[in-house]
Amino acid sequence: MVARPNLPLRIAPSILTADFGHLRGAVQAAEEAGADAIHLDVMDGRFVPNLTFGPLVVQAVRDATDLPLEVHLMIEEPERYLAAFAQAGGTTLTVHVEATCHLHRTVQQIVDLGCRAGVALNPGTPIQAVREIAPFVDLVLVMSVNPGFGGQRFIQTATSKLRRMRRLLDEFNPTCDLEVDGGIGPENVAEVVRHGANVVVAGSAVYNDRGSVAENLQALRAGLGLA
Ligand code: DX5
Ligand code: ZN
Repeated sequence: MVARPNLPLRIAPSILTADFGHLRGAVQAAEEAGADAIHLDVMDGRFVPNLTFGPLVVQAVRDATDLPLEVHLMIEEPERYLAAFAQAGGTTLTVHVEATCHLHRTVQQIVDLGCRAGVALNPGTPIQAVREIAPFVDLVLVMSVNPGFGGQRFIQTATSKLRRMRRLLDEFNPTCDLEVDGGIGPENVAEVVRHGANVVVAGSAVYNDRGSVAENLQALRAGLGLA
């Protein structure tokens, strides 16, 4: 277990596998069931081999809920679209360190737009890639699957990466959130938290055919020993 300064534990459902025909209802179900934030996966078909949505959908989600919105930008040159996602109502804008040449400038842009700044790392990217930017961000996102699709299997080495990342953050930015995204469900949520994550993204574990959003969120809490 890694020592952490009182960072609140949060669950952020990703709407990627929700029914987009009933997006408002899907978001409100998560809010009513006690979700702490909504996670929005923006994909451009270049940085990742899939396309999803842009600021219009973020705006629609903003209109449906008061929860914080985490906009996970899986797009090349995210700096070109930050203002649009801020205007659409994003609370945290998270860019991939692999997707922008001038990471410091991009993070500064996010801060200047009045949003929380996040940086994400692909599974193959070493933790040192955030060493210099760590003091300037509010959140670091460790991907535990290769980004692009929901419902993939958790990459087990992500637990050790979380632990090492938490240590790095404890040294350079102790109040920074550490988020994990990909393949999280009731069976492994406690493990990622034990290794240092305090924000957990769950997509297909929340939005699926097996249970309601409330039941699925309850199962995640039970996995954490909170229910
Ligand atoms: C993957 C996305 C994730 C995805 C997680 O590229 O960044 O946020 O929605 O989905 P699950 O929880 O099903 O792995
Ligand atoms: Zn995501």
